[in-house]
Amino acid sequence: MRLVHLSDLHFGAVTPDMPAFLRDAVLKVNPEVVIVSGDLTQHGRAREFEEARAFLDSIPLPQVVVPGNHDVPRWWMVWERFRRPWRHFRKLVQEDLEPVWSSEGLFVIGTNSARIAGWHLDWSRGRLSHHQMVRMVKTAQDADANALRVLVVHHPPAAPPQGTRRHLIGRQREFSQSVNIAGVDLILAGHFHISYAQTLRLSGGSAARSCVLSAVSTAISHRLKGEPNGFHVIEGDAHEILVQAWGWNGVGYSPGRKWLFQRTDEKRDWSEVGSLV
Ligand SMILES: [Fe+2]
Ligand SMILES: [Fe+2]
Repeated sequence: MRLVHLSDLHFGAVTPDMPAFLRDAVLKVNPEVVIVSGDLTQHGRAREFEEARAFLDSIPLPQVVVPGNHDVPRWWMVWERFRRPWRHFRKLVQEDLEPVWSSEGLFVIGTNSARIAGWHLDWSRGRLSHHQMVRMVKTAQDADANALRVLVVHHPPAAPPQGTRRHLIGRQREFSQSVNIAGVDLILAGHFHISYAQTLRLSGGSAARSCVLSAVSTAISHRLKGEPNGFHVIEGDAHEILVQAWGWNGVGYSPGRKWLFQRTDEKRDWSEVGSLV
């Protein structure tokens, strides 16, 4: 299995020519599926979604795409934001905000953690509802026991090693338990525009275990947070996962840091066995 994990494309705030370089890099890697963990646009405008659509169409490979907090009309477009928040995404990206995709060795569950508002000033914060978490657990029951179970969610459940001022996904305790029960092996996230991979301890009492988290930088946007544009290439199966960060080097994307994870027992308990810079 080989997949490409992209995130935070932010059409509307893209560095010129980067989409073509990214497309070439993805086609060179030739993954089984391309996964995009949200923030396809900058302001949730139709024009930006049209650009995102054209980019996705330029990559003739299976794709799994979920929305991010930037994929709804921004707060100053109040009427649109509250009345028809997902209109452009549904029309120009895909109807389903929480797609499910599977192949022989892979089972991918998409979730939508973006919210149009909340009881706080920062509406970029994200969470899954109880209903969404129940659905995740139910959907995972369809997965083959030998398939790698992947959850795609825009807001990460853990901070990068260097820390962040931004919020992690909300409802942490229920999220952690649900991911555990669903038997998720690998979580793909974005939002912070920082590349990291690590294990994530999942609550569940005596059944506690760890899964793997891969979070990526912005692939093509100039909204950088101290590191170059990039994406992850992930290879492996239900027993071993190799995450490799690809970063922009000035003339193209090239492979860099690697993290290797292995599953240590039948509890789907993952641990990091090596990291190569
Ligand atoms: Fe973003
Ligand atoms: Fe975001």
